[in-house]
Amino acid sequence: MDRRNFVTLGVVGGAAGLLLPAALQAADASPLQTPFAGGIYYTKEKPGRWAAKAAGHSPVVESAGKMVLVTTPHEMKGYEHYIVKHVLLDANMNLLGEKMFNPLQDKAAVSQFEIAAYSGPAYALSMCNQHDVWVTAFTV
Ligand SMILES: [Fe+2]
Repeated sequence: MDRRNFVTLGVVGGAAGLLLPAALQAADASPLQTPFAGGIYYTKEKPGRWAAKAAGHSPVVESAGKMVLVTTPHEMKGYEHYIVKHVLLDANMNLLGEKMFNPLQDKAAVSQFEIAAYSGPAYALSMCNQHDVWVTAFTV
């Protein structure tokens, strides 16, 4: 590669590096639509390698006032296959609440939270012992 091509590639590559993150942000404003979605965590829209599992793992969130009900429509089959916990986070990833499940006692992955001191965007996480962490965004 001659010096001229090397310099051209460097300029183009540098400009792409500066513009690409902004373009990605502008194209999809959802905070869950990062390169990690579908790889490190999963969403209904980005189920990654667990595409066939999305319906049973994405947390379903219902909220009324300051009460939030989270349900994961997943089996609770003892320690073999179950939902380990639910976690609620605010927009800054601060913990709003969490619920651990006992697969020997809990027949359904359902948790209820009262969120009295926060309003705004929030995230419900559901952790399966076999199929990783699933996230649903909502507003409280
Ligand atoms: Fe699972």
